[in-house]
Amino acid sequence: MAKAEKTCFICTKCGAVHDKWYGRCKECGEWTTLEEQAVIKPAKKSSSPVPTAGVGAMRLSDAPDKGESEQRLRTNIPEFDRALGGGIVKGSVILLSGEPGIGKSTLLLQICDSLEDQKILYVSGEESFMQIKMRASRLGVVSDSLFVYCENDLEKIEAQIDAVSPDLVIVDSIQTVSSDRFSSSPGSITQVRECSGYLIGLSKRGGFATVLVGHVNKDGAIAGPKLLEHMVDVVLYFEGERGDSYRVIRAAKNRYGSTNEIGLFEMCDRGLAEVPDPSKRLLEDSPKNIPGSCPVCLMEGTRPIVAEVQALVSKTPFPSPKRLSSGVDYNRMAMILAVLEKRLGMRFFDMDVYLNVIGGLKLDETAADLGIACALISCVRDVPLSGKLIAVGEIGLSGECRSVGSAEARISESARLGFDTAIVSHRTKLKTAPDGMKIVRVKSVFELAEFLNGLKKV
Ligand SMILES: Nc1ncnc2c1ncn2[C@@H]1O[C@H](COP(=O)(O)OP(=O)(O)OP(=O)(O)O)[C@@H](O)[C@H]1O
Ligand SMILES: [Mg+2]
Repeated sequence: MAKAEKTCFICTKCGAVHDKWYGRCKECGEWTTLEEQAVIKPAKKSSSPVPTAGVGAMRLSDAPDKGESEQRLRTNIPEFDRALGGGIVKGSVILLSGEPGIGKSTLLLQICDSLEDQKILYVSGEESFMQIKMRASRLGVVSDSLFVYCENDLEKIEAQIDAVSPDLVIVDSIQTVSSDRFSSSPGSITQVRECSGYLIGLSKRGGFATVLVGHVNKDGAIAGPKLLEHMVDVVLYFEGERGDSYRVIRAAKNRYGSTNEIGLFEMCDRGLAEVPDPSKRLLEDSPKNIPGSCPVCLMEGTRPIVAEVQALVSKTPFPSPKRLSSGVDYNRMAMILAVLEKRLGMRFFDMDVYLNVIGGLKLDETAADLGIACALISCVRDVPLSGKLIAVGEIGLSGECRSVGSAEARISESARLGFDTAIVSHRTKLKTAPDGMKIVRVKSVFELAEFLNGLKKV
């Protein structure tokens, strides 16, 4: 057993270690984040997390080429596989985190069911066997190769891994796992870091994949040391708006694939259901002929998704107007408002402005600028846009419209969904426009406003 000799101070924000207490962390500059922890002298040198024991330097070309396809566990949940870049890589460690109650355990139980030909050990430190059984019954999970173990102790978990020899281990959650080897309390930074490191080592040496569920702190970041995100192979965030049934899974880090792809789900009575045609679903409930709404097309990895931006502009009763945005970057909104105010003479200084993206999606692409401008202009003029109009393009500070990447894919997707007019930058290169799609090229926000004026007369 390890022995505590003296104490040190660990920053709860960045994990930096200090020999004495400071009001401000010397690494990240955060105030009052240092927490006293016992310094552990390990009983023996900790082993490497990767299986290198006894193997010296090796020629890369001599390594056996197994081919990627045979190393991945493909679930029957394509939206999850897509976010991972094609399935769970054997021997990899995935950290899945999300707000409380978002559906992490539900998703993992459904994954267990879909991997029915693989042996899975589901370790739960948060719920009892009966609670898991109840959830499994509700979700219709009947897998014979799923073993459930409700335990917090790292050594006992290791013993079960040895006994079951699974292909996949799920630890729900890593914050509840602790070991007597480390004297700090369960859930502390030291426990989370050391237990994660130990489980990662077991996974790499044993060749089985591991999913660690991680809690988030009140800012939405993964609780525990930042180091945890460096240690694992994949970091997945499971996100969704409170009160909204849509859930998005996205990779913040992926050593085996792109981090651009997302998986979209909907929470139903019987668990998480995939949304295979997200654009169609997101546009299903769009109100027709209401001013202040415009569809935009985003690229989520290789997949174009059409989402709707809504704007509401109303006279403010306050000395300083309100600006609220949900799904749109606040600074981007402020920039577009400033451009419309300066270049088109529109008046926002005494107006409250609200922007919202339907379905809890986040517009983190400048390609949505034209759509946001259209929604704002439509709301201010109180004129609804045609339900078959979509806007794709970036707006610069001088009011110019700039082209964006993957324009062809975005326009094709819009055409597939029944849109008949696309407003794009005049510089957008399109080899061919889809049949029945009218392409309106605009150079600046002036031309955009003129075109929208023209719509009014029709
Ligand atoms: N009987 C039910 N019918 C419909 N939906 C349910 C039912 N029970 C739970 N849910 C949904 O599942 C969600 C909880 O899912 P789950 O326990 O998987 O979340 P979690 O992310 O693992 O939470 P925690 O952080 O507490 O572990 C609830 O917020 C609710 O949306
Ligand atoms: Mg849970």
